[in-house]
Amino acid sequence: LDSLPEELRNVGKTILLIYGGGSIKKNGIYDKIIGILHDLEKEVIEISGVMPNPTYEKVEEGLSIARRQKVDFILAVGGGSVIDYAKAIAISIHYDGNPWKDYFVELKEPTCEVVKLGAVLTMVGTGSEMNTGSVITNTKEKLKLGHAFSNPDVFPRFAFLDPTFTYSLPHYQMVAGIFDIFSHICEQYFSGEDDNTSDYLAEGLMRSLLVSSRIANKNPLDYEARSNIMWTATWALNTLISKGKSEDWMVHSLGQSIGALTNATHGMTLACVSLPYYRYILNFGLKKFVRFAENVFGVSPDGLSDLEIAKKGLQEMETWMRELGLVLRARDLGMTLEMIPDLVKGTVVMTTGYKTLSEEEIIKIYRESY
Ligand code: NZQ
Ligand code: ZN
Repeated sequence: LDSLPEELRNVGKTILLIYGGGSIKKNGIYDKIIGILHDLEKEVIEISGVMPNPTYEKVEEGLSIARRQKVDFILAVGGGSVIDYAKAIAISIHYDGNPWKDYFVELKEPTCEVVKLGAVLTMVGTGSEMNTGSVITNTKEKLKLGHAFSNPDVFPRFAFLDPTFTYSLPHYQMVAGIFDIFSHICEQYFSGEDDNTSDYLAEGLMRSLLVSSRIANKNPLDYEARSNIMWTATWALNTLISKGKSEDWMVHSLGQSIGALTNATHGMTLACVSLPYYRYILNFGLKKFVRFAENVFGVSPDGLSDLEIAKKGLQEMETWMRELGLVLRARDLGMTLEMIPDLVKGTVVMTTGYKTLSEEEIIKIYRESY
């Protein structure tokens, strides 16, 4: 944070400080940042209480605060929820239309002035610190929708990543974030049939994550492991490994639909649907699943058929997930079988992975995830 004053000195007088439900007050990060803002003689407006899986209602509430005076710069201090929320505010302050409908349902780009934002990251996983993604939940409509904006103004101008800021995270959040990272890499990796440099980069990131996550799981205060995890999260979803890839994102679509109805932790929703989904599409992208087993999990191909190698890879993935203590059953997140019709309605069907799912197939995967 020593460089934060330098970043903020010339951004204007009025800073909108956005944070979550209070973790930054307990671990001292809030005091450090307020100290820096006061030293710089900034005028500070605060929006606090941004919840995990931020709601559109909270966006509307924030806008009524943010529009009261001219905001020069937004500083988001927190995890993906806070940064995603800050982006939604940044693109809506000067917008006259309906942000939910236009930005999240119809995926329009902001054409108004976008207020610049910067981030101090405290929870690792989403990559929101270095991308244009924003995910907002509309509880009335039972929808959780994300948009990766093309407008480069939505990128944070800077992000501070200090691994020690993540030490106070509960184990549950730490491992959910780790699985979110893994899933982001898989979503990009499991697409396409070509030999692609992006896939080699993806495999390297996954291998680093497997090593560091096992260390951090046993010793959360291992600086090197937490630092590697933090850095991997950023590279997993800052567009580097999506180059030349059609990408899938079906796991996120299924998981987000569960999130919309249960408000469960994002990474855990992904953990519940991943194995049923990947086991189902295994045959449609067999070559890549074989490569995944061998290059990421070190499965030896000796004497095994392609299908056996691929299955063994997913078995190894399951073993790692169990080791971390991830939630593997959606019922443990509050999902019920009665929710399935609404879950299906909220599932955006992706067409760029190895298999475009029909409604029956989506239902089958939800049942298996339950
Ligand atoms: O609110 P506070 O009190 O800060 O507590 C938070 C929250 O309860 C806590 N926390 C954060 N940093 C902490 C800490 N507790 C102790 N010590 C710290 N240092 O952790 C809890 C979870 O935080 P949250 O920001 O919700 O987690 P995450 O970073 O996983 O963000 C999840 C949101 O990001 C979206 C998800 O859908 C979800 O809404 N995503 C955003 C993406 C993007 N922008 O590209 C992509 C992702 O796939 C994802 O969809
Ligand atoms: Zn994610």
